[in-house]
Amino acid sequence: MIEMWDDDKINAFQATLLTWYDQEGRSTLPWRQDREPYHIWVSEIMLQQTQVQTVIPYFERFMATFPTINDLAMAPEQLLLKTWEGLGYYSRVRNMQKAARQIIDDYAGSWPDNMQELQKLAGIGPYTAAAIASIAFDEPVPAIDGNAFRVFARLFKIDADIAQPKTRKIFFELGQQIIDQKRPGDFNQAIMDLGSSYMTAKNYDSEHSPVKAYNAAYLDGTEALYPVKSKAPKPKPVTYFAIAVKSPAGYLWEQRPTKGLLGDFWMMPLYALTDFILDNDAHWTEEEMIQATQKRLAADYGVVADLKRVPGRPVTHVYTHLKWTVTILTATVKKQNLQRGQWQTMADIQNDPQPKIQDKIWQRLK
Ligand code: ADE
Repeated sequence: MIEMWDDDKINAFQATLLTWYDQEGRSTLPWRQDREPYHIWVSEIMLQQTQVQTVIPYFERFMATFPTINDLAMAPEQLLLKTWEGLGYYSRVRNMQKAARQIIDDYAGSWPDNMQELQKLAGIGPYTAAAIASIAFDEPVPAIDGNAFRVFARLFKIDADIAQPKTRKIFFELGQQIIDQKRPGDFNQAIMDLGSSYMTAKNYDSEHSPVKAYNAAYLDGTEALYPVKSKAPKPKPVTYFAIAVKSPAGYLWEQRPTKGLLGDFWMMPLYALTDFILDNDAHWTEEEMIQATQKRLAADYGVVADLKRVPGRPVTHVYTHLKWTVTILTATVKKQNLQRGQWQTMADIQNDPQPKIQDKIWQRLK
């Protein structure tokens, strides 16, 4: 059971929080300079999986490249991905382009001004919708992200598991009761700032927090127990060979299918090791798998080459549900009649957006 505050306590909390925010909030953040929904939206999407300090230069470059929602709607995909390069979770930016087109086509170019309607746009869930609605349009709706989960869980000692989708409702309803009706956007951003200063996940400093008197978990010494969050399943391991095939005309370079992880990115040929093992019970040695890959390369691409493993540990990258482990092979081309992909010079390759894993492969090849 959550013990709700009375009106006096809620008012006092809001006053304390907002006074602190006015004095010590991060007012210089580039997306806090105006209340343009486009600016708020882009920042919120970027901030979903990425730290504030990393986001700042990306945000500025994004706005320089796509100053308006029209520019975003019309952007070529490769430029879109290039501008997002390094942030990862590329479905975020692809959805942003879809949403930009929805706003132009379905809303005559002007933003819906409330949480409910905003959620009809691609990639905009309850958190982002509430952030935009409150910050840009003063709708008193709480924006429940990781910060709000943590801050509210400690203030009220909420035991619900925040990994469970149904828990969001508990926090949202609580947030609705304590949010400042006149300054909902500032209230939400003050909660974010608390959550990334005095009320962080680890190394929190509640002793000096402006709202320590309201922090039930701090007051009885149980902060370490909040928020309650059950563990997510581990990303599934997948193992690949990446093949660096270099000819006088450049590297063998190929666009991935649109559907699936890293869709439409250009990369080196990749073979999942499970491709070789699935229909065969035999235990393969690495050397045997390299031999098999050599045959596959010839059959699939028309490139006859000797493959050699690059010494050292494979490179790895963790995606939401998968952990990639990539062993790099170099190819000495003996004969070729290219049937798939294309030869690309390093200069051209550098103009393409590089997914992180491809970047790590280049680093290792250097
Ligand atoms: N994290 C998520 N949204 C944010 C915002 N608007 N300002 C700072 N940090 C955030």
